[in-house]
Amino acid sequence: MDLQDLSPAAFCDLLAREGIERFYLVWDADAGRVRASHPLVEPLARRFEQDHRDFDRHEGVFVRRAPESGVLQAVFLHRTCRGQGAGGVRFWRYDTVEEFLQDGLRLAKGMTLKNALAGLWWGGGKGVIARETGRAEDPAARRLVYQEYGELLTGLRGAYVTAEDVGTSSEDMAAVFTRTRFITCIPPVLGGSGSPSIHTARGVVRGMEAALAHLGRGGLAGKTVTIQGLGHVGGLLTGFLREHGVARVIGTDADPARCAALRARQPDGDGFTLTVRATELGDNAILAEPADIVAPCATGGVLSPETIPTLQAPIVCGAANNQLLDSERDDLLLAQRGIVYLPDFLVNRMGIVNCADEQYGSLAEDPRIEAHLGDTWENSIYNLSLAVLAEARAKGEPPGRVAVRLAEERSFELHPLWGHRGAIIIRSLVANGWAG
Ligand code: NAI
Repeated sequence: MDLQDLSPAAFCDLLAREGIERFYLVWDADAGRVRASHPLVEPLARRFEQDHRDFDRHEGVFVRRAPESGVLQAVFLHRTCRGQGAGGVRFWRYDTVEEFLQDGLRLAKGMTLKNALAGLWWGGGKGVIARETGRAEDPAARRLVYQEYGELLTGLRGAYVTAEDVGTSSEDMAAVFTRTRFITCIPPVLGGSGSPSIHTARGVVRGMEAALAHLGRGGLAGKTVTIQGLGHVGGLLTGFLREHGVARVIGTDADPARCAALRARQPDGDGFTLTVRATELGDNAILAEPADIVAPCATGGVLSPETIPTLQAPIVCGAANNQLLDSERDDLLLAQRGIVYLPDFLVNRMGIVNCADEQYGSLAEDPRIEAHLGDTWENSIYNLSLAVLAEARAKGEPPGRVAVRLAEERSFELHPLWGHRGAIIIRSLVANGWAG
């Protein structure tokens, strides 16, 4: 069986048998190939070289089987021209090593685009932890998993700065913080800014308003919005939409407890109704509900040739990362159906903006945050969304393509003070035998 077809647990067993605790796959620009730290993982390097889309010359992928918990943990550094790779750490179940790696690659690439488009001096990075590879379910075991993750980041000497992502909580962040300083989104009691989801949800609202304005459909008042995923962002988004006069929200979540909690927080009344449905993981029926806007706020890859023909809403605007199963094909499919799609990396930037700002101290009402959410700065979510949609219309291109082009351009700008330091750190890690 090929290495990438193994389950993460079987892969961990193999690493243990071979005595490998850590390995890396790094892009050697001079040789034009991926260098692997160990012969065992050479097939993964060759696999990366063939996969131009997701791999896209990632500067480095660093993987570890955590010594005590036995959990598979990885850091993906896509492009660090603008600064350290920054993005959240995902704690998720994967069936195969291929899925684990592909998720990390796609997410890190998305962070390159998001950070560049938001004007942050950060590069693209992402962390992934394979949930089922160790004993991570009870609180003490889980704390250990995140502490060991913190050790991994310390060992990477700041090339990557982590934050919260799907499956990870503020408590987990506090556990990471016991072992590394390369972290944001830590709880306020430890000097951080806490959960970023409030700002993320507010940013998604601004994207929705821009899409409505672009189509000449007025504001949010009286509209119907469907939301897939009523977690941190989806739950808060429901409340903000209500405040903006939305008449009806229809939401689903795979976790019945989250449905019930939101139902309790948002009773019907004052011209607002909420319908919540518990659903199965992977059930995308909510996307096909009649609505003014559909907001994917669960996991990625939900917009595909299977789901796009079923959409009834004229606008797609949500928080989930990598909503398009295939970023080029599905962006085009949506445009061909006349559906306005606002790229996730444009409208869900506020989580990482909050993390980036945290390093410079926090304010109760931070003008730096409000600039992203307002109407005056040309790079705010609202104004940039309008600009991207206008350019897409003028050139007859899908908005995703326009946004990617702009983000790519910006992602190669070098940090004004620190140059391409992330790449220098990666070279130094390799030269100093990071993988043992
Ligand atoms: P979360 O983990 O709190 O919520 C996700 C929810 O989606 C969970 O309740 C889960 O049960 C549900 N879910 C999963 N598959 C589903 C399905 N098929 N149907 C219905 N529900 C399903 O995550 P969070 O923080 O709310 O993030 C949501 C999305 O937004 C993720 O893709 C995340 O990467 C992205 N994002 C979040 C940011 C933040 O500030 N929290 C920032 C930027 C992006």
